[in-house]
Amino acid sequence: MARSIGIDIGTSKICAAVTESGVTTILKNKDGYTFYPAVLAKTEDGYLVGNSAVRQTLSRIDSTDYYLKRKLGALEVNDVSERVEIQDKLTVLFKTIRSDAENALRTVVRDCVVSVPACFRMLSRDCILTSARAAGFESVRLVSEQASAALVYSREVKGTERVMIVDFGGGMLTVSLAEITGSGADEATVTMLSNAENQNLGGIEFTRCIVSDVRNRLKEEYHLDVKKDKKTMYRLEQEAGRVKKELSSSPIATFSINNLAVVDGEEISFEYDYSRVQLERLSKDLIDEMEMEVQKALVDADLEWADISAIILVGGTTRIPAVADRIRRISELEPSHYLEPQECVAAGASMLADTLFRGEDKAVVRDVAPMNVLVKAGENRTFVAVEKNQPLPCELKKELHSGRLFSQTIQMKIYEGNHLKAEDNVLIRKIGVRAEKESLLEKPASTLLFKMDESGMLHIEAKGSDLKDTIHIC
Ligand SMILES: Nc1ncnc2c1ncn2[C@@H]1O[C@H](COP(=O)(O)OP(=O)(O)OP(=O)(O)O)[C@@H](O)[C@H]1O
Ligand SMILES: [Mg+2]
Repeated sequence: MARSIGIDIGTSKICAAVTESGVTTILKNKDGYTFYPAVLAKTEDGYLVGNSAVRQTLSRIDSTDYYLKRKLGALEVNDVSERVEIQDKLTVLFKTIRSDAENALRTVVRDCVVSVPACFRMLSRDCILTSARAAGFESVRLVSEQASAALVYSREVKGTERVMIVDFGGGMLTVSLAEITGSGADEATVTMLSNAENQNLGGIEFTRCIVSDVRNRLKEEYHLDVKKDKKTMYRLEQEAGRVKKELSSSPIATFSINNLAVVDGEEISFEYDYSRVQLERLSKDLIDEMEMEVQKALVDADLEWADISAIILVGGTTRIPAVADRIRRISELEPSHYLEPQECVAAGASMLADTLFRGEDKAVVRDVAPMNVLVKAGENRTFVAVEKNQPLPCELKKELHSGRLFSQTIQMKIYEGNHLKAEDNVLIRKIGVRAEKESLLEKPASTLLFKMDESGMLHIEAKGSDLKDTIHIC
């Protein structure tokens, strides 16, 4: 029987899982690991993915991509060639995941649920959907990473609970509030209430605190600036990442790197003992920024700490003791380490995949709209078609006029963003729809239906006009 899987595309790693008969398994790839490093390298014959890309990074430093998800999140509507390149890379990734999953499960893998950051805009979501389909997945559904984690946590929930999910990963931070009812995918309902995020705050930033400290020391000791040397910078980042992780479990870790550069004819090596306290000092601003998002998520959901029954830690960066310490201090709650921080998102996506593609039409997870969608129609009328944090799916019916007496076409501009003025947001599409009611006395009009689906994609239906099909935005 064809199966469906859950996939978590992280900034640092990619993980896939399957759920069957209530049992969730993290899938091993062909190298025998439960995740792929999120690294892709372009070669003469195509792409290398994961560990094989990592292994040859130093020899292909200019064609190796480390931060694909950050690039995907920052993609703009006019970046056509960049979009094509990102989609190509994602397609290769999805093909690899699908083929490894088929080998591991010894059956056809047909459908998938892919987790995405709750804040991802439609363009980034569309790239994922398009690439996953291009890789051969038939049905693809998106779910927020935080809702996926909440779904796994639902196994712990009895009755109804309001929880906070702090997802601090490799490349971003998302703090979400959710209401969970029931227990496990077959009975649970996860309703997201709010999401607050910083797309440029992740484990990479903690690693770079160490890198920048090392660079300062190299400047002081050897008058050496390695910033422009990509290979050396890569080596510093790798070692700093290792030191950062070690400091989560031990008070001191040694940063050590050999043959760093040649200064005055002499090969330089660098060694320095970092303490956990030192890393905490270097990264204090990052923890302050995390606290801001935590407070914002609470305010956006109109909740107080007293309403929250658990704080769930997700993402590898929550292994840094200072992260849990700060959350504990501001909330006076003990954060829960119940979930495996780097696997739970894929696990939750697979739980959703299992119920959805078994044909059970249950709303197990209710995500919310990532941001407002504003529509400017005709001359100057702007309205909000979808509101940030509105439960998905949602729809709005609206009668629109063409704006001018003899013009039969209703021109619309669709914007995405949270600014009040339409033009301050991102223009994602311009569309003209032929009016349904044509009249010489009144302005031509049409009733349009603006729908945002469960994956956070907008579709517009204009009944009775020449627009027979739905327009998919993006
Ligand atoms: N023991 C540890 N101490 C500190 N940081 C850690 C530890 N283990 C992993 N990390 C960090 O966690 C990050 C990876 O976390 P995770 O796998 O949750 O991210 P991701 O899902 O790939 O990224 P994102 O969700 O942000 O897109 C990396 O920055 C890694 O260095
Ligand atoms: Mg993640």
